[in-house]
Amino acid sequence: MKIKKNVSLLPFNTFGIPVEAGSFAEVRSVHDLRVALRSDIRPVFVLGGGSNVLFTRAPEGLVLKNAIRGIEVTRRFKHKIWVTVGGGEVWHDFVLWAVRHNFGGVENLSLIPGSVGAAPVQNIGAYGVELKDVFVGLRAVELATGKEKYFTRADCQFGYRDSFFKKEGKGKYCITAVTLSLTLRQHRINTSYGDIRKTLEANGISRPTIADVSQAVIQIRSSKLPDPAKIGNCGSFFKNPETERATLERIRLTHPDVPYFDLPPDERRVKIPAGWLIEQCGWKGKRVGNTGCYEKQALVLVNYGGATGEEVKNLALAIMDSVEQKFGIRIEAEVNVL
Ligand code: EPU
Repeated sequence: MKIKKNVSLLPFNTFGIPVEAGSFAEVRSVHDLRVALRSDIRPVFVLGGGSNVLFTRAPEGLVLKNAIRGIEVTRRFKHKIWVTVGGGEVWHDFVLWAVRHNFGGVENLSLIPGSVGAAPVQNIGAYGVELKDVFVGLRAVELATGKEKYFTRADCQFGYRDSFFKKEGKGKYCITAVTLSLTLRQHRINTSYGDIRKTLEANGISRPTIADVSQAVIQIRSSKLPDPAKIGNCGSFFKNPETERATLERIRLTHPDVPYFDLPPDERRVKIPAGWLIEQCGWKGKRVGNTGCYEKQALVLVNYGGATGEEVKNLALAIMDSVEQKFGIRIEAEVNVL
């Protein structure tokens, strides 16, 4: 482990923003991490896959790239296993590993960009499944002390794209290993999301395996979401807002087709897709300088090449303002804007 000076973060963020870290180190083990923390360079910014961060400036202090690898089955039960995965593993590579071994539970989360260590931070989710559904616990090193701590599922306080690590725990830990529970047989195939059902039908599959579901998700995501290797982006830039049902009813008066999801426990609140709200404001496919709102999914902001973080942030603010003006709903960024 070596601390390097003046390192470009361009290859380390999927938005493709060229900021330069004053100090940068790649850590491949908990030992490496502790050695890096022994330097006096502060603050410390932990970078995972760089797929959920927008740099409007370089992080101050020391940037640590979590490169702690390893996938290990740590417990075996009759119908399930626990697998412990290094925080620096690429999330999708882990999903492919699970599907290859016929271990069920993460197939709906195929092709989500980012690292395993970042997955619990925002409780990644897609197509009816969230990380918390398979989560057992995690180990994280406290940056201030270098001590490793175990977090149970309750400790993580998971919510919709939310956890302890976005609240009180924000910026204080490096997640070194995540333990997940995967099924060995009698997999709970989840095809409740309309898009998956339609894709499987189109593929002529009536009794899908977890590999079929993974394949369908890959097909849907690739058709709707831009590949960060080609067009810089961070997936959904905004969260889908939760509102009172009264707000939905008001919107329905002028837009009878507004899509929405009822929220438990009593369905008095609803979630309205931000992508729909943004599209209604005329942003979908609109380009502003080097940045823009993606043509196939309005929830995604893109860097067409050469955009600064400030440019993307300004576009995001303009979108937020116009959605608020038209619908009286303030949407929030899902991406961590620095
Ligand atoms: N919609 C539009 N216009 C758009 C986009 C969406 O009208 O430009 C409408 C669709 O017609 C549909 C509804 O919005 O009725 C939902 O769209 P979609 O199924 O594409 O899902 P989403 O709610 O926009 C969320 C996640 C995605 C995840 C998908 C599938 C958030 C913030 N985003 O998007 O997650 O892949 O559901 O489960 O919750 C990510 O977090 O990076 C991400 C891509």
